[in-house]
Amino acid sequence: MTIPKRPWASDLPVVERIRVHLRVDGTEYDVFVPPHFTLLRVLRDELGRTGTKEGCGGDGHCGACTVLLDDEPVVSCLMLAAQAQGRSIVTIEGLAGDDGLDPLQQAFVDYGAVQCGFCSPGMILSAKALLIANPRPSEQEIREALVGNLCRCTGYVKIVRAVASVAGVDSAPDQE
Ligand code: FES
Ligand code: FES
Repeated sequence: MTIPKRPWASDLPVVERIRVHLRVDGTEYDVFVPPHFTLLRVLRDELGRTGTKEGCGGDGHCGACTVLLDDEPVVSCLMLAAQAQGRSIVTIEGLAGDDGLDPLQQAFVDYGAVQCGFCSPGMILSAKALLIANPRPSEQEIREALVGNLCRCTGYVKIVRAVASVAGVDSAPDQE
């Protein structure tokens, strides 16, 4: 019987890298990455945007990896970096300006909407996308916009109140 030869590393095919051009938090980048790399992986490992979290391990369930892609929220664990070629991305690191925190970030602090903070970047960016598209959402619209973002610490009352305060709308939810 012939035992198949085990390939040495040098026999294995070299994974091709592709050039991807991204605009992240206002800065242009060219990254050279294998084509199967997700946007999440590139943001965290290549570009140091570790505020973008990996919660569910790429299942698309938790929303912790949410970033804005041309002002739309996307779960970056389900998107290839190559699919973002030439697009504009905002991460939580890019939200604060020279004047300080974004109003949503400040509201999360002021309303006690952050406990461990793991979900907060994704929550805030989903809320940011909502307010860009709809500056005066109802409480129901806020809840619907955040439905893909899971929080295991705070419940959602303080998070919804924080977003509502920035939108200048009333929110008096009694239930988590
Ligand atoms: S890590 Fe992307 S949705 Fe959970
Ligand atoms: S604050 Fe901990 S998961 Fe939301």
